[in-house]
Amino acid sequence: MSFRGKSILLGVSGGIAAYKAVALCSRLVQAGADVKVIMTESAAKFVSPLTFQAISRNQVMTDTFEEKDPSVVSHIHLADHADLVVIAPATANMIAKLALGLGDDMLSTTLLAVTSPIVVAPAMNVHMYSHPAVVHNMELLRQRGITFIEPGEGQLACGYVGKGRLAEPEEIVTALAAILNRGKLLSGRKVMVTAGGTQERIDPVRYLTNDSSGKMGYAIARTARDMGAEVTLISGPSSLPVPAGVEHVPVLSALDMLEAVTSRFEQADIVIKSAAVADYRPAEASPLKIKKKDEELTIRLVKNPDILKTLGERKTGQFLVGFAAETNDVIEHAKDKLQRKNCDMIVANDVTEEGAGFGTDSNRVIFLEASGTVEPLPKMSKEAVAERLLSRIAERLAGRVGGGRS
Ligand code: CTP
Repeated sequence: MSFRGKSILLGVSGGIAAYKAVALCSRLVQAGADVKVIMTESAAKFVSPLTFQAISRNQVMTDTFEEKDPSVVSHIHLADHADLVVIAPATANMIAKLALGLGDDMLSTTLLAVTSPIVVAPAMNVHMYSHPAVVHNMELLRQRGITFIEPGEGQLACGYVGKGRLAEPEEIVTALAAILNRGKLLSGRKVMVTAGGTQERIDPVRYLTNDSSGKMGYAIARTARDMGAEVTLISGPSSLPVPAGVEHVPVLSALDMLEAVTSRFEQADIVIKSAAVADYRPAEASPLKIKKKDEELTIRLVKNPDILKTLGERKTGQFLVGFAAETNDVIEHAKDKLQRKNCDMIVANDVTEEGAGFGTDSNRVIFLEASGTVEPLPKMSKEAVAERLLSRIAERLAGRVGGGRS
């Protein structure tokens, strides 16, 4: 693992695990990285800045106003020159500051100016780690594209046994190498992702929809962007923030989505249809609110076009991925969809399983490929599913003659 030529900004916040950040700094320096360290005042109570200075052979910053080089503004200079930022250990306080956008010390101020990927390795007491505010802040940061390296379980400095130990320096170094590497995986590729559920109008105040939250599709869009792709996200209504740097095309109905997708299909290299498209729509949307009259009301539904199938028929070398949300005979149904819709890959999941499917942060999926490969993955975060999916697609595209469309 080489970090030669890479500039890493290591943020150390105030927890006992700050001592482990010394080993992390040392490993990164040994692997060839130029490591610049920013410590919070509390971190400096656990480990001396001189320790990091000696190991990194760079000046350690703790104070926003301690401007030692008059030719630069330190927090902007450090942010601009980092290829990657890692906060280890990240306390609950530092995570909250990052989530809120506070800049009241050197580290949090610098983080506001960072445009490169940020990796956060939390360390804290087990109860603090599961506090709703901390959980909420971490989820918010994940949605903004920040990567977390989960703490390990074991004996904590506070005496508790549980989750909260800073991940081991080796694990952090491996994760950082993967993130630096992934920036190139999809560079030059155009990725189109559909997400969320569609809305099918009944009248001006009512519509038919489904439980899709858009979380899976948004995670795919963010990850594809981080892997260097040019990303278009065509999304049904969702409360999730649109990832920065991603082209967002909001749509409502399946017919809107069909139009948005087909008009951009030709330019795309990879198309991932994670949207939950309504199979049927009301035959006609009433222009006026339907008043309650009879004991029964019948709304006639007509079939929506199958967008994925349409793309499968028009495919000219795009790598086409569909999703299959199933409640039974998952593999059988997914294989059928793979063939019927002429996809290169289907991501199947059993939506009745706990921690999988609509609205959850995790998923347990199976990758089925046109070549016949069936690969069940363990339960993991939607971010991790996105990462595995896009890495697999990058691999398949690289394996094609000429490295592009088949
Ligand atoms: N899909 C689509 N257009 C539709 C319905 C589905 O593009 N009108 C896409 C979805 O985006 C997804 C895949 O097809 O990628 C599978 O969706 P799913 O709802 O599981 O399958 P259906 O084809 O609708 O089959 P069924 O409802 O019978 O399971």
